[in-house]
Amino acid sequence: MSIRPIGVIHSPFQSREDIKKQRQTHEVEDFLGELEIFKEFEPGLKDIDGFSHLIIIFQFHKSKQRNLFAHPPHDGKKRGVFSTRSPDRPNAIGMTIVRFLKRKGNTLKASGIDMLEGTPILDIKPYTQRDIKKKASFGWLSQTKK
Ligand SMILES: C[S@@+](CC[C@H](N)C(=O)[O-])C[C@H]1O[C@@H](n2cnc3c(N)ncnc32)[C@H](O)[C@@H]1O
Repeated sequence: MSIRPIGVIHSPFQSREDIKKQRQTHEVEDFLGELEIFKEFEPGLKDIDGFSHLIIIFQFHKSKQRNLFAHPPHDGKKRGVFSTRSPDRPNAIGMTIVRFLKRKGNTLKASGIDMLEGTPILDIKPYTQRDIKKKASFGWLSQTKK
């Protein structure tokens, strides 16, 4: 398998601790950042304007552990990693739906950034009507506050 980054995330957060602290007082939806798409991939941004949200696939490049279990915050229980969004997973791949605010050349301004500064972007997809699921249920997460 060969995957190479198409860009990099610019975020105000240098460490996981930074994000944790900010989440105590702010909503993730308010976290602003920029997606810098490398010049060779910029033509692929054609027609991206007009989408309110984008699905960002990225690498948890600062994750050093490959765990099969996680202890999600606000839960206190040991959960199977595939029932969580833990960054410490067998393949260190993350997915965040961000609000797309503005494009300037090869840079996309967005909010809802829960990634660290320098996070490699692997792919971008538009958030579409097909992604809105009417009949969704949320497993163990239904029992927690967040
Ligand atoms: C719980 S994960 C959820 C990420 C994404 N929304 C998802 O569902 O895959 C978000 C946390 O991952 C950690 N994180 C973000 N970017 C990272 C990176 N590049 N390397 C390692 N950990 C990262 C931070 O602690 C952040 O609060």
